[in-house]
Amino acid sequence: MGRPTVGDRKRFLERLNGALDRQWLTNGGPLVHEFEDRVAEVAGTRHCVATSNATMALHLLYMATGLSGEVIMPAMTYVATAHAARALGLTPVFCDVDPDTGCIDPRRAEEAVTARTSGIVGVHLWGRPSAIDDLGKVAERHGLRLLFDAAHALGCSYRGRPVGGFGAAEVFSFHATKVVNSFEGGAVVTDDGDLAERLRSLRSFGFGPDGTSQRVGINAKMSEAAAAMGLTSLEAFEETRRHNRVNLDHYAAGLAGVDGVEVVTYDAAQNPNCQYVVIRVDEAVTGIHRDLLMRVLKEENITTQRYFSPACHQVEPYRTERPVVLPHTERLAEQVLALPTGPTVATADIHRVCEVLRCAVGAGPQVTERFRGCEETA
Ligand SMILES: Cc1ncc(COP(=O)(O)O)c(C=O)c1O
Repeated sequence: MGRPTVGDRKRFLERLNGALDRQWLTNGGPLVHEFEDRVAEVAGTRHCVATSNATMALHLLYMATGLSGEVIMPAMTYVATAHAARALGLTPVFCDVDPDTGCIDPRRAEEAVTARTSGIVGVHLWGRPSAIDDLGKVAERHGLRLLFDAAHALGCSYRGRPVGGFGAAEVFSFHATKVVNSFEGGAVVTDDGDLAERLRSLRSFGFGPDGTSQRVGINAKMSEAAAAMGLTSLEAFEETRRHNRVNLDHYAAGLAGVDGVEVVTYDAAQNPNCQYVVIRVDEAVTGIHRDLLMRVLKEENITTQRYFSPACHQVEPYRTERPVVLPHTERLAEQVLALPTGPTVATADIHRVCEVLRCAVGAGPQVTERFRGCEETA
């Protein structure tokens, strides 16, 4: 999370010019096909279906897998995971997360299964893989579809295999804020050829091979311009990942010893992309709430994000339609703050962010007094 990872701008413009020269701007052009091939390589899957964004990818996937009734998912996610289901008339059933990982707790997921449940959607929060094996067992025991929102987890791995090939399918996001960006974009990756075919049809108005409508579909195609950016940004991915890891190390060193501020860590064995540097702020120790820290940072021209707060069950329509208490999720949502990172964030920037955080935490009660009542504008 920082500025967009563009990669080699000249290369992007060459690709864009190529599309203009070909006069082939959308509808399954060569750049989209190439991007799909590259993403499938990273994910280690047979198929990739690129889409206009990840929200539409989730929507198509929920449609294509025939989900019905209730779908179990964590509330500690971006609201798109739930909205994509709710927009199809499905009922998102939120369950609590494992406090250590922030990902859906398989035991809580199993407790949430009812006769109406058709699927489970795991979310690899901040790129940390869900408890995939245990979720697989729950899904198998109850005959449920298992899908993953892997919007944050491009290039990460679980037990030595790349994220992408787990469950029936997984979804990546290539939004401008993501580690690989295509302005707006997303993709479903899967090893299931029939599912990929259905997704391709649904992505394009429900058309079959003859170009006529065979089912209700939507328009969720990726454009050639988006694929041009996606390919260029993807070429810079490993460099971005390296930079993100160095940034994370600087943050960890810079915030070491700041009581009540914990930098979320990643397991090196999971090949993390480290696109999110997240801190947890324990107000009981710091004497200053996360929202006030955010406000102080903003005053210093440092933009941060509450990823994810409020949690999905705390916002409409879910909090009214289906009130639920999720203690671990709520505690996490109260504490998390994502700090600036990415290739454009330099070491000196990180030192400054850490310095501001140190000062603000050190002056906890005074800061709280100075900004009393201003939290909501953070
Ligand atoms: C976990 C998660 N799922 C889905 C999405 C939606 O992605 P998009 O913006 O590409 O629609 C996001 C976006 O930030 C996300 O963080």
